[in-house]
Amino acid sequence: MLGTGTIPLIGYQEVAFGVPPSAETALADGLPPALLDLLACIGQVALQRGQPLYLVGGPVRDLLLRRPVMDIDLVTEGDAVDLARAVAQRFGGQVSAVSQFLTAKVRFPLWTVDLATARREIYPSPGALPVVQPGSIHDDLARRDFTINAIAIDLTPARWGHLLDPFGGYGDVQGRLVRILHDRSFQDDATRILRALRYEQRLGFALEAHTCYALKRDRGFLDTISGDRLRREVERVFQEPMPERVLGRAHDLGVLGSLFPGLQWGEEHRQALIRWREEGREVSPLLFLALLAYPLSLERAEALVRRLRLPRRWAEVVRHTLQAREIVARWASPPRPSQVIESLAPLRPEAVEACAILSTEQAHRQTLRAYLDTWRSLRPRLSAMDLLALGVPQGPWVGRLLAELRARVADGLLATEEEERAYVRRRLHTLKEEP
Ligand code: CTP
Repeated sequence: MLGTGTIPLIGYQEVAFGVPPSAETALADGLPPALLDLLACIGQVALQRGQPLYLVGGPVRDLLLRRPVMDIDLVTEGDAVDLARAVAQRFGGQVSAVSQFLTAKVRFPLWTVDLATARREIYPSPGALPVVQPGSIHDDLARRDFTINAIAIDLTPARWGHLLDPFGGYGDVQGRLVRILHDRSFQDDATRILRALRYEQRLGFALEAHTCYALKRDRGFLDTISGDRLRREVERVFQEPMPERVLGRAHDLGVLGSLFPGLQWGEEHRQALIRWREEGREVSPLLFLALLAYPLSLERAEALVRRLRLPRRWAEVVRHTLQAREIVARWASPPRPSQVIESLAPLRPEAVEACAILSTEQAHRQTLRAYLDTWRSLRPRLSAMDLLALGVPQGPWVGRLLAELRARVADGLLATEEEERAYVRRRLHTLKEEP
């Protein structure tokens, strides 16, 4: 057990902001007892195999911040896959996702833990995937992105709860700073530029001064990142609790423009999204893609689709946003609800939402809100079965008449079920003359 207020630092640099609290306390406060028991058992098996075991990265940072822990990331010196198999066999887990980088997942009935072999990484060229070799826990912490993610808690029984903090990560947790470990960090892996902004905004931290300088200096290295990797980072931005903050910061630091020329997140985005949220509206991750695509030209939008190798659904959001923008731009006088439904119904909702947020005409924004709130879910009272019962022949006419009914209901021309029936009967007389 550790005494309060003391923590054995394992021969590494002193922290800048006083003595860290007991990581043992942080573990006990932050993780459920049954999970702690499981980790202790894994530590015991690792010890029997002569392998030290550590909790590392995000979970340590979140424990020290007293935030909920999302993943359990463990690192061992030595073969993590063998250890994963041994642990799974002993405690009834299943091993999966074994990778060439000597990592594995072990699924237990209640928890999943990730186990990795401590490794060192060498970046052969900027943006390339690193060359990976097994290494020590120190190597493993030294290859990481930021000091706050380069802390480990020892889970080996005799050293349970000891903190390994070679880069002053605890001090940066206390000082609420995102700090790179070395000057070329963003050049090695420019996805860290977006990671830095995500952590900064999610945790309410600030970029440490030199980190901020290096980030601005090296933002051009985003060009070295493959489309797939870049898209995955962008997706993680969209999945943050407040993506708009990350995007705003990325815009201000010139990162958005380096990510893809023409992307913007200005004051009007900020204000418009505040209003949107205040109206109690949903904000889905892909809405942010639509908002970014909104000002692009057709060519630039297609270039964005190619650069980020967007999957079908994402590409559709981009293309539909431009289509919706063009449709709305053609509205000279207020369009009838049925016209709005007809033109916008085939488009993805995020595309229409982006127009409802960013359109400069207040009247257009109101029309789009009416579409999203009411018109798009309007349906005739009669069903396909009712139409068949009225004598509409099976086949395309059923769908066409339902669409006609829907349009007339939306425009307020058919107020009751009886009026709908009367309309269908009238149409039945004219059907024969139509193609
Ligand atoms: N990491 C890194 N450089 C990267 C990606 C990841 O150094 N480009 C390291 C960090 O130490 C990070 C760990 O790998 O803590 C795990 O990565 P990830 O799961 O992406 O990060 P978390 O810190 O768990 O972040 P989040 O809270 O967003 O899940």
